[in-house]
Amino acid sequence: MLKVALTGPTGLVGSRIIELLHNDFIFIPLPHDALDITNKDRVYTFLKNLDFDMILHLAAYTLVDKAEEEPEKSRLINVEGTRNLFDFCISKQKKFIYTSTDFVFDGEHPPYFEDSIPNPLGVYAKTKYEGECIVKDKAMIIRFSYPYRTAYDKKKDFVRSLKFLLESHTPLTMIQDTLITPTFIDDIAQALRHLFVNFTPEIFHIIGASSISPYNAAIMISHQFHLDSSLIIPITLEEYSKGKAPRPRYSVTKSKKNTFYPMKSFNEGLKLIK
Ligand SMILES: NC(=O)c1ccc[n+]([C@@H]2O[C@H](COP(=O)([O-])OP(=O)(O)OC[C@H]3O[C@@H](n4cnc5c(N)ncnc54)[C@H](OP(=O)(O)O)[C@@H]3O)[C@@H](O)[C@H]2O)c1
Repeated sequence: MLKVALTGPTGLVGSRIIELLHNDFIFIPLPHDALDITNKDRVYTFLKNLDFDMILHLAAYTLVDKAEEEPEKSRLINVEGTRNLFDFCISKQKKFIYTSTDFVFDGEHPPYFEDSIPNPLGVYAKTKYEGECIVKDKAMIIRFSYPYRTAYDKKKDFVRSLKFLLESHTPLTMIQDTLITPTFIDDIAQALRHLFVNFTPEIFHIIGASSISPYNAAIMISHQFHLDSSLIIPITLEEYSKGKAPRPRYSVTKSKKNTFYPMKSFNEGLKLIK
C-alpha cells in the first residue's frame, strides 16, 4: 500500500482525508508538535528515518487577514517550510504534493483554469504562490477553494462559522458583489484517491462545481439549517475590505484536468453535511 506522509494532519482538510481514505493508503501523520516544518535540520533528521513514498503537504499558515500583520511568519511557514520539505523529497526521489489556493488569482478575469496566470493579492496568497513556484514542474500542485466539511471540533470552516453565528442570532454582513467557489472536502479526498496513484508533476484544480456570492452562500446555509435569513445583511467588497487582506473579486475557478471525479455544487454539498 502507498505510504503517504502528511503535514497538517490535524487541519480542516488533512483530518478528513485521513478519516475517509485510511483503508486505502498508509498515512503517516506529521503533526506540528512532532515536526515544525520551518526547522530545516529537524525536517531532514526526522524524514531521513521515515519510510514513506510521498508527502502530501497541507501544513500552512492559513489566517488570511492576520497574515497581513505577520508577513514574516506567513512566509516562514508557507515558503521556507515548503522549501525544507520539498528539497528533502527531491534529494531522496520522493513524490511531493503541494496544496494551494484559488487566492493565487486576482479575481479580475474569471474563469480561472489550471493554466491561468496567477496574480496573488494579499500576503497569504503571495506566500502560497511562492510555495507553488518552488515546487512547480517537479511536484503536483492541487488548488482548493473555500473548503467545507462535516463538523470538526478543532476548527470551524466557513459554513460552520456562519451556522454558529446564525444559531446565536448574530447579524451577519456578507459580501454580495463577489463570487467564491466552495469545495466539499469529501470530494477533495475522493479526488486525491485517484491523484495519489496517478501522480504527475502538474497543477490540478480540485474545486467545487458552483460559484456564488458569500451573501448567497449564507442565505443557502440559513435555508438548509432552518435559521433566520433576515440576520444576513448584504455589503459590498469595498465596505468589507476595510482593514482586511485583499481578496479576489470573482473567484470563479474551474478545472480542465479533473476528468476523474465529479465535484459537487455548494447546494449538493450542503445537503450532505446536513
Ligand atoms: N482553509 C481554507 O480556506 C483553504 C482554502 C484554500 C486552500 N487551502 C490550503 O489547503 C491546505 C490545508 O488547509 P487547512 O484548511 O486544512 O489548514 P488548517 O486547518 O489551518 O491547518 C493547518 C495545519 O498546518 C499545521 N501547521 C502550521 N504551522 C506549522 C508548522 N510550522 N509546522 C508544521 N505544521 C504546521 C497546523 O498545525 P497546528 O494547528 O498544530 O499549528 C495545522 O495542522 C493548505 O495548504 C491551505 O493553504 C485552505
